[in-house]
Amino acid sequence: TWTAANIADALVEQVRTQIGDGLAICGLSGGVDSAVAAALVQRAIGDRLTCVFVDHGLLRAGEREQVQQDFVAATGARLVTVDAEETFLRELSGVSDPEAKRKIIGREFIRSFEGAITDVLGDRAAHGDKVDFLVQGTLYPDVVESGGGSGTANIKSHHNVGGLPEDLEFSLVEPLRLLFKDEVRAVGRELGLPEEIVARQPFPGPGLAIRIVGEVTGERLALLRKADLIAREELTTAGLDNQIWQCPVVLLADVRSVGVQGDGRTYGHPIVLRPVSSEDAMTADWTRIPYEVLEIISTRITNEVPEVNRVVLDVTSKPPGTIEWE
Ligand code: XMP
Repeated sequence: TWTAANIADALVEQVRTQIGDGLAICGLSGGVDSAVAAALVQRAIGDRLTCVFVDHGLLRAGEREQVQQDFVAATGARLVTVDAEETFLRELSGVSDPEAKRKIIGREFIRSFEGAITDVLGDRAAHGDKVDFLVQGTLYPDVVESGGGSGTANIKSHHNVGGLPEDLEFSLVEPLRLLFKDEVRAVGRELGLPEEIVARQPFPGPGLAIRIVGEVTGERLALLRKADLIAREELTTAGLDNQIWQCPVVLLADVRSVGVQGDGRTYGHPIVLRPVSSEDAMTADWTRIPYEVLEIISTRITNEVPEVNRVVLDVTSKPPGTIEWE
C-alpha cells in the first residue's frame, strides 16, 4: 500500500542498492526537492554523502541561512557551502535569453560541484575513493516537461535534467523521479524534515535569474530580492500560504514606465506578482488574492523599492502561460 513510510523505506533501499559502497554528492538548492532527496540518501549511506550548497547569488533573502541552519540541524548531513556569486554573475553578464541563462547556470553548477569535490573530498580521493554519484531532486513533472519520460517535446530545459555536460563523470541518483510534489513533502515529513523545509513553496534551481526578464545584474537581484521578501511576508501574514502553490515575483528589467513618486516624475521598472494555485505545476490557475492584500503589497513595494514604480498582477492560467516568466 502507498504510505509515505513505505515509499521512504523503498526509496532508501533503492538508493542503497544503486550506490553500494560508493560516495555521493548532492547539490542543495534551498528547495524541498533537493532537501528530501539528500535526506533520503543520507539515511541510505550516512556520511558517504556530502551535500554541497552552491550559493550562486541568485537566491532569495534568507535562503542561504535556512539551508545552513535548518537542513543541517534536521539531518546531521555534511554540508559544504560554495561561494560562487561572482562567477555566476560574470558568466551571466550580457545574457538575456532564458534558455541561455539556464544552460549557463546548469554548467556552472556542475563546475562548482567539481570544484567542491576537489577541495572537500581531496583526502578521500587521495585514498583512492571516487565520488561516483550525483544526487538530484528531479521530480516526475520535471522529467515529463524535459521530454525525458514520455517523449514529449522539450518545453524548458530544467537545469536539473537537461543541460548537463556529456562528459559528466557521475551517475545520477534521482530518487524522486516518479513522485509528485505532495508525495515528496509526505516523504520529507516521514524523514523528519521540519515544516519550514517541507512546506516551502517551490523555487526554481536557476533562482531569481529567470525572474529577471532581461540581463541579470547584482543591482537588479538586490531590488528583486527586496520586492520578493515583501510579497512573501504579506502573503504569509494574510494566511494565504496554503492556497498558493508559489508566487513568483518578477522584475521586468527591460521595461520602464513613467510614474510619479515623491515630488517628481520617475521612469522605473514594473514588478509582476504571479501567485498560482496548482497540484503539481503541470497546470495552474492564478490565485484570487484579496484586493486588500494586493494593495498592501503594491504600496510597500513602491514605497520601499524606489526603482519600482508599478506593481502588476498576472491573471493567466497555465496553459497558456507557464508559471515562471522564463
Ligand atoms: P513552469 O514555468 O515551467 O514551471 O510552469 C513549473 C515549475 O517548475 C519550476 N521551474 C524550474 N525548476 N529548474 C527548476 O528546478 C528550472 O529551470 C525551472 N523552471 C521552472 C517552476 O518554479 C514551477 O514550480
